[in-house]
Amino acid sequence: MRALAVFSLALTSCALVIEEQPNSKRAIDENDFVRVDGLRLRTDGGLYYITGLNYWACLNLAASESQGGNYSRLVLELDQMAAKGVNHLRIMASSEGAPTTQPFRMNPPLMNAPGQYNEEVFEGLDICLDEMSKRGMRATMTLSNEWQWSGGFAQYISWATNNTQIPYPSSWNMTKKPQRAIPRTGWGDYTTTTDGAALYGEFESFANQMYTNEIAEGFYKDHIRTVLSRRNTVNGRLYTEDPTIMTWQLANEPQSIDLISNKNSFYPWVQRISAFIRERAPKQLISVGLESKQGELVFKSVHNLSTVDYATSHLWVQNWGYYDMYDPTGLSLLIAQTFAKQFIKDTSRWAVDIGKPIFLEEFGMARDNWLNKNKEYPYLSSASTTHKDTYFKTVIGAVMDDFKKGGAYIGTSPWAYGGVWRPETQYMNEFGMVWAGDPPHESPGWYDLYDTDEAMNIVHRQQQEMSKYLETHNNGVRVP
Ligand SMILES: *[C@@H]1O[C@H](CO)[C@@H](O)[C@H](O)[C@H]1NC(C)=O
Ligand SMILES: *[C@@H]1O[C@H](CO)[C@@H](O)[C@H](O)[C@H]1NC(C)=O
Ligand SMILES: *[C@@H]1O[C@H](CO)[C@@H](O)[C@H](O)[C@H]1NC(C)=O
Ligand SMILES: *[C@@H]1O[C@H](CO)[C@@H](O)[C@H](O)[C@H]1NC(C)=O
Repeated sequence: MRALAVFSLALTSCALVIEEQPNSKRAIDENDFVRVDGLRLRTDGGLYYITGLNYWACLNLAASESQGGNYSRLVLELDQMAAKGVNHLRIMASSEGAPTTQPFRMNPPLMNAPGQYNEEVFEGLDICLDEMSKRGMRATMTLSNEWQWSGGFAQYISWATNNTQIPYPSSWNMTKKPQRAIPRTGWGDYTTTTDGAALYGEFESFANQMYTNEIAEGFYKDHIRTVLSRRNTVNGRLYTEDPTIMTWQLANEPQSIDLISNKNSFYPWVQRISAFIRERAPKQLISVGLESKQGELVFKSVHNLSTVDYATSHLWVQNWGYYDMYDPTGLSLLIAQTFAKQFIKDTSRWAVDIGKPIFLEEFGMARDNWLNKNKEYPYLSSASTTHKDTYFKTVIGAVMDDFKKGGAYIGTSPWAYGGVWRPETQYMNEFGMVWAGDPPHESPGWYDLYDTDEAMNIVHRQQQEMSKYLETHNNGVRVP
């Protein structure tokens, strides 16, 4: 059905055929793997600067319609991102759930039970990678998750302990009050302890048994083995032989308390899992997925391992208390900008100290939501984005400057592409999903980047500026 749809579109639409030519010219060659060279990344085309975006739901959007996918939306959004010069997507290569009904997570999941896969969702991942490859986009493949929105650690622990109930922390429940008149259109609210929500600390303690529970680790390693040894059903490439896959990432934002204690189980886990991946995927890179918010010692302990190819950072000013989306004055914005610049400076220096590149693979800011404060929903897309645009220029500008001055930063990847989705027109599908840029445990629309947002032009100008820069600073090798 998918192939038919493409065929008929190509026949009836000239514009589509013309658009496809530059895409296919930029397609990734079968041996053009990304390599680390000191503080830089390189491909056959020369130095590689990442103009990335988070697009975590790619495997679900690319899945068949019967599994909640939407191929026309997928292709439209990939083309939109490619048109803005995006050359990298950070996507999920995992999601877990069931047999108990698990709320607040991607649905349907890739894995229904240990070793039991939804083949149509797996084919979604194949399609996603194939479509990315045609557009010259590389992938970070995230293999698990600290947080509940894809199942992740907590689901593995639940499976490993006789389906123990997961102590979910406060999460966005789309069916809570207030509800809109038309069923399945939201809005909803955060769950509270009254609804049975656990504290985040309790949830993390549960999830972080991942570093010591051998049964859960066995399930996780089996998953890694399965994904790495997969052959793409669209283009026939083995995943470990596909340079579209730049990086295997251990997990999204793994956390650990008591990080400086000798008894800590987190560092040995990073070492074990990264070595396990390296052995099976020697041509591709490995990153941990750390936010790098925990300071220099933790940063260096995690990223200095020989099986970790580059460092990562995530920068969350509102979540960390440095920004207030209801403050229209410039003060809150200024605090956010100041914090962000210092964070980029510090993490770059730490990465230089250990001689590895660093990738800012998550950051975001809300819209001017003080304008929505007294409206039906605080995250309406109608709010302007003056703070967000200023902040994006600051953050992306700081990373580009760092690169040009010989620092360790090698690119940015904002959170997260919502493309054509809007909260105002959202409708939950039969799996309870709306596929916003915000994941299922957070308020839809909070951090979304829409196709018409100025932030996408800021992303685009980054790519234009950096490719111009690389043309003259690339050891004589022209970037295609
Ligand atoms: C798929 O996405 C398009 C937008 O690209 C939308 O118009 C259409 O309604 C979606 N289809 C389904 C089944 O959700
Ligand atoms: C697992 O849970 C079920 C009920 O949920 C219970 O009947 C069974 O005894 C438990 N098994 C173990 C080994 O705890
Ligand atoms: C979400 O909210 C609805 C309505 O209040 C409630 O029935 C349901 O149990 C909630 N779901 C979770 C997982 O808390
Ligand atoms: C990083 O590891 C190397 C050995 O691989 C060691 O020589 C160096 O001191 C370490 N650096 C830091 C900052 O831990």
